[in-house]
This record gives sequence, structure tokens and C-alpha cells, in this order.
Amino acid sequence: MSLPAFIAALDLLAADAPARIGAAVDLEAWTEVRNALVGRQSGRLTDIMAGLGALAKEDRREAGQRANSVKVAIEEALAHRHAELAAAAPKSGSSFDLSMPARGRWKGAVHPVSLVIDEVIEIFRELGFTIALGPEAEHAWYNFGALNFPDDHPAMDLHDTLYLGDGQVLRTHTSPVQVRTLQQYPPPVRVLAPGNVYRRDFFDPSHAPMFAQIEGLVVDEGVSFADLKATLSHFARRFFGSTTQTRFRPSYFPFTEPSAEMDVQCGVCSGSGCSVCKQSGWIEILGAGMVHPAVLEAAGLDSERFTGWAFGMGPARTAISRHGIPDIRILYDADVRFLDQFTR
Ligand code: PHE
Repeated sequence: MSLPAFIAALDLLAADAPARIGAAVDLEAWTEVRNALVGRQSGRLTDIMAGLGALAKEDRREAGQRANSVKVAIEEALAHRHAELAAAAPKSGSSFDLSMPARGRWKGAVHPVSLVIDEVIEIFRELGFTIALGPEAEHAWYNFGALNFPDDHPAMDLHDTLYLGDGQVLRTHTSPVQVRTLQQYPPPVRVLAPGNVYRRDFFDPSHAPMFAQIEGLVVDEGVSFADLKATLSHFARRFFGSTTQTRFRPSYFPFTEPSAEMDVQCGVCSGSGCSVCKQSGWIEILGAGMVHPAVLEAAGLDSERFTGWAFGMGPARTAISRHGIPDIRILYDADVRFLDQFTR
């Protein structure tokens, strides 16, 4: 073999070695490439070197030096690639077990009270109601005075209401939003006012010091109690099911006249009596009535021209009777194991 042929063979090897080394995708492939390039048994470099003895004596020194520098370059490239592959490879003993069942993913859930609020809003939205909001720190006048509470009404007692000073209270119901809405928008008015309210109560199985309410208000010319009954009965059938029975009982609120409470047939026992409905077969779900003329006047409306009706419901109560939840406090515990199970 001549020196130029020897050098050409080395150059060819040096030229294609980097691509072959780079193409090794794992340590096994790397070992194969190493053996093919510089392996003692059948590596290409070894084969070329075997031709060294056949060269002219005076050419051997240069040929040997050339071969050595190619060898060093290839070994460097191999070492570099080996380090890359070793870093990417799974540690021995912890390789993936593809037969292992996947870990269940935790999906968030909507709180059962929020679910009720969303559904109520949706049902009334179909009837043309929009949303109105008011402050939770409210003037006593909006919470009581404008709503026709007499000055000595027991609800205004320090034992029942949280006073903030400066004539402000934490609103005890969402009814003040009735007055704020009527002051701001001329009839026809059809609004729903969801929000939190506060009472000076201790937690027990059926009471909480803070809870959500949903207020509804309709004011226009010629609005009657028949509209109230029809709309709320429609709501009950949409919410609880198309065969749900409702009943209206006379009641009293300072801001409505006449006033009523609406009961729906107990969904847990279908009316036959159970612990959720206290054996009565009925669940009270809301208070309602015709807006008192004094409230319309307090909001600046002519009570001879306009009439209206309003209702207030507690979505926590509704969630409780819907799911047969034995204790309202569970709704406040933020225990995801409990809250997780409710979906639409
Ligand atoms: N605000 C009343 C309550 O908190 C409920 C209600 C609202 C009653 C509107 C009649 C009309 O109990």
C-alpha cells in the first residue's frame, strides 16, 4: 500500500465517524459504533493500521502519526457521545414499567352551593332576568329602613345583626339590592341578586353566621301575585324535576304584602316523610311576596302605577335537601373528599 492510499483511507474514516457517532441513539448503539470504528477485532481503524507494515519504511512514521491523531479525535467524539447518552438514560433499576396503571388525576369540582346558584341563575336567565349585585357592608337604611322594617323590629336587635358602626351593617339578606336596583333602573325590572349575607348566629346543623342568598325581583305595570306563583312554580319544576309539586303558605315579611313561603315536595322521600323534611314531606325553599308599596316609594317609584314581586332563597338549604346532607356545616369545611362528589 502507498502512503497516499493509507492517508485517503484515514481521511475517509475521519470524515464519516462524527455522523455515525452522533447517530447512536442509546448506549447499545454507541457500543456497536465504537466497535465498528475503533474495535480491536474488526474496527475500521484497526484494519487500516494493519496496512502500516506494508508501507515503505520511510513513510511509516508519518502514517503512524496521522493514524494516531484520527484515533484520538474519534475517541474524543465517542467519549462525548457516551456522556450525553448516559445522562439521558434511565438509571438502572428504575426503568419504566409500562404495565403500571396510570395514577388517577384529581379534577377540581364546583362547590354544591355554587352549583345551585349557577343553575338558578340559568333558569331565570331564560326568563329574561339579569344579575344585580350590592355591597355586603350595607347602610342600615337599605337593609332595614327602606324595606319597611319598623324601628323596633327584632331583626334589628344587636343579637341578630352585625353592626359595623357609622350606620352600616353586614347585610342580613339580599333584599337591600331590591331598593338599590329600583333606584338605579326604571321598570320594567327583572333581576336576580345572588350574594353572601350575615347573621349573628353560631354554627349548628342548620345555621351559619354567613351564607348565600339569591334574591329575585320583578317590577312593572300590572304585575300580579299570579305572575309570582306561575314563575316560582315553573322554577321549581325546572330545578327539581317536571313533576315536582309546590305549595304556597301565607307568611310575613315587612317588605312584601301579601307574603308567602314556597315549599316543594321533598326530593329525598318524594313526599312520604323522612329525616330531611322532618317527616312533613315538604321542604321550604324560599320566601316571597308582592313588593310592599312602601318599598316602591322608598326607591322613588309611584306605587299606584307599578307593582312587583320578590323572592329570596337560600341555596345552601336547597343543596342540603337536594343531596340529603345531614349538617349544613359540612358545606363550610372545605373538605375536598366531600366537595369533590358533586357535579352537574
Ligand atoms: N329577605 C328575606 C329573608 O332573608 C327573604 C325574602 C326575599 C322574602 C324577598 C320575600 C321577598 O328571609
